[in-house]
Amino acid sequence: MDALRSAPSCPIRYVHYIKQAGALFRSPLNLAVTPLWIDMKIQEIDGENWHGILEIQGEAYQEIGLEDLEVLKSKLAASPNTCFVSLSDQGTVLGYLLAHPWNGSTPPKLFEPLPDITASEYLYLHDMAVNSQSKGQGIGRAMFEELVGVALKTGIQEIRLVAVQGSGSFWSFLGFREIPGATVCSSYGENAVLMEKVLTA
Ligand SMILES: CC(C)(COP(=O)(O)OP(=O)(O)OC[C@H]1O[C@@H](n2cnc3c(N)ncnc32)[C@H](O)[C@@H]1OP(=O)(O)O)[C@@H](O)C(=O)NCCC(=O)NCCS
Repeated sequence: MDALRSAPSCPIRYVHYIKQAGALFRSPLNLAVTPLWIDMKIQEIDGENWHGILEIQGEAYQEIGLEDLEVLKSKLAASPNTCFVSLSDQGTVLGYLLAHPWNGSTPPKLFEPLPDITASEYLYLHDMAVNSQSKGQGIGRAMFEELVGVALKTGIQEIRLVAVQGSGSFWSFLGFREIPGATVCSSYGENAVLMEKVLTA
């Protein structure tokens, strides 16, 4: 965690990911010069993004319930370098990702502010969601690639998450595998699955 806290924030305000024919390219500039290229602007979360984040959360998690703003903010406070939004050209939040260092075999409880983190064995991807109109454009994958980049820069070699609402196939597509025999708190909903991805530079 100390490494994450001391990692410099991105010196450019936005990072762009360009998706072209399925491939993602990271760039400080918008290089999406043809209609077939999709530009995704990603930045660390700032105060004015919370309204948009809550709207997307409300749309995405009807099945398992919503977390209070205080709970979401506790994730950002613990690890600002690993929490992102994707923004439209007009500044609308299209998607968000919240991740923080964690340790041990039990994921943090849902609906509760994050307790003090005593050790950092891996990054825990608490939540990623994209608004319904923006799904399928590569925003989720781009935010995840940004997280992997920060993890590798800070020497973290593993990311874990609890796949909810049947999202396991999406995470498998991104290289996660189920941790056999793991128990997940019932607040994550039925069929929630603990998954991990070991990172290689
Ligand atoms: C999961 C979620 C964040 C994905 O975001 P997204 O921006 O739509 O995903 P992307 O467009 O980046 O998809 C990345 C790739 O995954 C693939 N994919 C998407 N959903 C998939 C699924 N259910 N199973 C397998 N692959 C899937 C896409 O085809 C895409 O492949 P491509 O890059 O080759 O085109 C989004 O669907 C969402 O907000 N879901 C509701 C909230 C949620 O359940 N979050 C997960 C909590 S654990």
